Amino acid sequence: MTATRVEAPARWQQCASCGNRLDEVDPRTSCPECGGLLDVMFHMPAGRATELRRLFSARVAIGGEPRDRSGVWRYSELIMSPPPASIVSFPEGNTPLIANDHIAAWSRSSRLLLKHEGMNPTGSFKDRGMTVGVTQARRVRARAVACASTGNTSASLAAYAALAGLPALVLVPAGRVSSGKLQQTLAYGARTLAVRGDFDACLSLLREAAERLGVYLLNSVNPFRIEGQKAIVFELLQQLQWEAPDWIALPAGNLGNTAAFGKALDEASRLGLIDRVPRLLCVQAAGAAPFYKSFTADFTERFTTRAETVATAIRIGDPASYDRGVRAIRFTRGAVVSVPDDAILVAREQIGIAGIGCEPASAASVAGVRYAIESGLINPEESVVSILTGHLLKDPEAGGDPNGKGANVPIEIEPTIGAIERELR
Ligand code: F0G
Repeated sequence: MTATRVEAPARWQQCASCGNRLDEVDPRTSCPECGGLLDVMFHMPAGRATELRRLFSARVAIGGEPRDRSGVWRYSELIMSPPPASIVSFPEGNTPLIANDHIAAWSRSSRLLLKHEGMNPTGSFKDRGMTVGVTQARRVRARAVACASTGNTSASLAAYAALAGLPALVLVPAGRVSSGKLQQTLAYGARTLAVRGDFDACLSLLREAAERLGVYLLNSVNPFRIEGQKAIVFELLQQLQWEAPDWIALPAGNLGNTAAFGKALDEASRLGLIDRVPRLLCVQAAGAAPFYKSFTADFTERFTTRAETVATAIRIGDPASYDRGVRAIRFTRGAVVSVPDDAILVAREQIGIAGIGCEPASAASVAGVRYAIESGLINPEESVVSILTGHLLKDPEAGGDPNGKGANVPIEIEPTIGAIERELR
């Protein structure tokens, strides 16, 4: 089968605050004029939806080239079109969209689907942004790459940097990252600095220091990370035959993913790949909910907080992609909710006993769906895709239902058949 060709569009970077334009391969990760965040822009002529859909389907069917096997590079016309030899890919993506009766009943969402991004090579959705970010690092001839992280970004950066043969520097908040994520980052060989401070302190330190240290910054302030994470949305839409769901629910911390989802939906809608825009439901942990607070004030004020939650991945008090997040919520007529830690842990336990499992931050999205239905924001009949952002094994010790009713613990026995029989009675 031969795939149709759609010419790769020209791309540039543009400051979202002052409109300043930078070349596609400019290594700076914020606007040199005003310090604002950059977006990757491209112009794709309208009327290509049918060709694009056919092209993406053909690539799934062929599955030959690395680009075709990756659930990110399959959509390269909408993401980035680098020389094929420069692509740094495991491959990633191709994550399942799961229907599960138990979770649907528990969340009260009868048409709920779970997109399990924990099935990516390093166990989280970060691999989608990182394959593009590290490919871009090669294109700008970076000598080293760096990020601040609550653990998943650092594990992903470390793995992709290793694949590309680039040194990686990681800053994590000391003693506040799950041991699984820290061990992963170390195992993939990143130089790891545990900073006596929180995630927000790590990120502001690194944003200040990156240029001086001569490292290419790969936090989601980097617009190429956002481009890669858009593929979560493109892939789920393709899995749904481009029939958009009513809602897409996701956990929100630094708001990079929220920004990516908003941008992907904007582009998919402009190109005619979808004929209606799903609403985003951003879910924050109650102890780390500055974006929720701004939402309830109609985004008239930007709040920050000292973040505290069991969902360590989203323990973030000053989201860097705030402006991009606001745009995404406004464009999709979305909503932001906050859920307490107890609700996150119960959701995580329910997702676990369904045989699916995820880390606490990911369970926040399902807890948020249940809350949104109970409070009348979402109708139980509406279709919802909830994103499970990270794998269960990322943070296995986070605990279960705090009321302890369902907690499953190992039972120690003597090595006899009688002892087994007694426990099964
Ligand atoms: N879920 C998981 C499992 C995460 O690791 C993160 C972010 C999020 C949700 C929130 O995404 O920041 O784009 O709003 N983790 C980052 C990290 C901060 O360093 O791994 P966001």
